[in-house]
Amino acid sequence: MKNYDVVAIGELNVDLILNGIQGEPTVGKEIFAEDMLLTLGSSTAIFAANVACLGSKTGFVGMIGKDPFGTLIETSLADKGVDTSMLIKSTKYASGATICLNYNEDRANVTYQGAMDHMGFDDIDQSVFTNTKHIHLSSVFLQSGIKRDLLKILKTARDNGVTTSLDPQWDPNEKWDMDYKEVLPYLNVFLPNETELKFLTGSKTLEEAIVKIEPYIDVCVVKCGRMGSILLQKGKEAVVLDAFLNNDVVDAIGAGDSFNAGFIHAYVKGATVEEAQINGNLTGAVNTTAAGGTGAFTSAEDVKRTAAERFSKNLIL
Ligand SMILES: Nc1ncnc2c1ncn2[C@@H]1O[C@H](COP(=O)(O)OP(=O)(O)OP(=O)(O)O)[C@@H](O)[C@H]1O
Ligand SMILES: [Mg+2]
Repeated sequence: MKNYDVVAIGELNVDLILNGIQGEPTVGKEIFAEDMLLTLGSSTAIFAANVACLGSKTGFVGMIGKDPFGTLIETSLADKGVDTSMLIKSTKYASGATICLNYNEDRANVTYQGAMDHMGFDDIDQSVFTNTKHIHLSSVFLQSGIKRDLLKILKTARDNGVTTSLDPQWDPNEKWDMDYKEVLPYLNVFLPNETELKFLTGSKTLEEAIVKIEPYIDVCVVKCGRMGSILLQKGKEAVVLDAFLNNDVVDAIGAGDSFNAGFIHAYVKGATVEEAQINGNLTGAVNTTAAGGTGAFTSAEDVKRTAAERFSKNLIL
């Protein structure tokens, strides 16, 4: 028996979200925001919290500082039902933070990576590779240790029969120096958004990017915001799935991570990838009905009810 359905490895920080900002910031000036929220941040943490909320037994391996932000991260994860016993608490590095200037459907972020940048393969308790069904990673370009050791992590998972998923997220350096030809063959599910996929493959169009990755993938879902998502499998027709459109978006923070949570929850439960894609579109849409990445994920029952009432679709739980 494995202790976990899903273990998320990597990225942990806090988000300081400023809402209702009066214009754009200018160096040398000061402007007001109407509202502020200090909360658990990071794509991987939002994923972990939401996949746990849906009912997957979830653990987290990540590095935080021994500081107030680290405590906030740990207690927030635990409150969301994520096992925090594998967190590494550094005395050398501070916990990371993102200042998020939120302008409704888009936002400008400034991140101090902190401790999460320093965790690598050797810091990971190796028992995790025999103790979970699935490992999820995200935001490789925010974590130089994870980026360096990515293949080692994926290969060790595969050697132990553990399935894997990766959401690359944005590259703040805009170098996009992850060799997709090397990485994708060791990955079960690749979860980029449209823009990231184009940059990673050096493609002008999405069609060109899809042709390039096709020989290397097992399953890939390209997230396309309010247009929905595209499911790709080697040797199979692509499945284009419209979003369960929410025209009354509270904010879209974490919609991609919530998509990942819905998809991976269904995937580890043994659903088909087509069913998992529907689940992902649904949890992505549910995400946009409340503030922040985890606001709508208060309980599995609540998510199920929102999906049914707002989008007339049943969630796979
Ligand atoms: N306005 C919306 N209405 C309904 N569903 C949405 C909306 N925006 C996003 N979604 C759903 O959420 C999924 C993921 O969103 P998106 O494509 O923005 O991911 P992302 O770019 O990775 O986001 P993130 O900024 O969280 O990393 C989409 O594929 C879609 O199914
Ligand atoms: Mg994303």
